[in-house]
Amino acid sequence: MKKWEISVIPGDGIGIEVMPEATRVLDRLAEIHGGIAFSYREYPWSCEYYLEHGVMMPEDGLKQLEQSDAVFLGAVGNPKLVADHISLWGLLVNIRRGFEQVINVRPAKQMKGIASPLVNPKEFDFIVVRENSEGEYSEVGGRIHSGEDEMAIQNAVFTRKGITRAMDYAFELAKTRRGHVTSATKSNGIVHSMPFWDEVFQDVSKRYEDIQTQSVHIDALSAFLVSKPHTFDVIVASNLFGDILTDIGASIMGSIGIAPAANININGKYPSMFEPVHGSAPDIVGQGIANPIGQIWTGKMMLDHLGERELGTLLLDTIEEVLQDGIKTPDIGGTASTIEVTDHIFNKLNCGH
Ligand code: NAI
Ligand code: MG
Repeated sequence: MKKWEISVIPGDGIGIEVMPEATRVLDRLAEIHGGIAFSYREYPWSCEYYLEHGVMMPEDGLKQLEQSDAVFLGAVGNPKLVADHISLWGLLVNIRRGFEQVINVRPAKQMKGIASPLVNPKEFDFIVVRENSEGEYSEVGGRIHSGEDEMAIQNAVFTRKGITRAMDYAFELAKTRRGHVTSATKSNGIVHSMPFWDEVFQDVSKRYEDIQTQSVHIDALSAFLVSKPHTFDVIVASNLFGDILTDIGASIMGSIGIAPAANININGKYPSMFEPVHGSAPDIVGQGIANPIGQIWTGKMMLDHLGERELGTLLLDTIEEVLQDGIKTPDIGGTASTIEVTDHIFNKLNCGH
């Protein structure tokens, strides 16, 4: 029996509502498999925790998570209690940086049973590999002077190492998919970092002769994700560009409530972290209508990462079957509750397979 140790951080708001739904589905999958089990250790780190302790997580928090096989996170944030930059940086960013989760992976695919806001889209299925450690989101820079002389400088940081590892990840992923990598660039306007990005892309692509490549400027690429998303397979992007492209991805799928994400540690020193794209949704908290699919699909990404790919595929197929049966939360046009959607997924896994 293989036992996977999972650190669970439900967090705030609907994170607390969708997390137990995802873990009971994972437990059901383990039961079907027969040879694996999940052991969860839950951590109460959240905005409530902050009010009591003055920190989002204890000082030795990373140490506590370090031994687990993966971190499974719900959502963090309660702007009524704690300012967002404190809750996000104190917990999420702390874990992403501390555990060297240098790659952010976010798939977007047309789900059976959910209407995309695009009219008659051709079937799309792409994954954005976002550089997660440097680029435009750097702390280098500053502000000086005041009044009409006031100025701010924000430096983007690009390293050959950082770009190369993101691109390698994208090419390796493309090998397991349709064999196509698109690089998001802007070398016509950003004259230092983006030509460098393009050069590294060319260097890396030489090592993957069987993979087709293209470079597309970020403005045109954003438009193409709306007008012809089916033409993309793997997209590799810098931190900022990837952030923007993945929101487009979530929105053309039909709801942010279904979009999954993974923060990957690639050097094997620390666990990776799996968290849905959505936040704590204070506007619907406590109503029992949060869509659990973002968290459950994120669980599928965790299964894939742990090597349990067959279970991951079974889970995504089952989610689509339930959606096609019309069992949906209000964000995607249904009337079902969080628990009802999960029950249907759970029961289909019970009898169907
Ligand atoms: P949000 O993602 O929480 O909500 C945006 C909209 O989408 C809301 O109308 C919400 O009701 C809806 N929504 C989100 N998830 C849903 C789900 N599973 N089912 C149905 N509807 C869903 O983003 P917002 O409102 O900007 O942020 C709220 C809080 O969450 C803030 O404190 C923010 O900092 C935090 N946040 C945390 C993230 C994380 O933990 N990774 C990511 C984004 C925001
Ligand atoms: Mg974003």
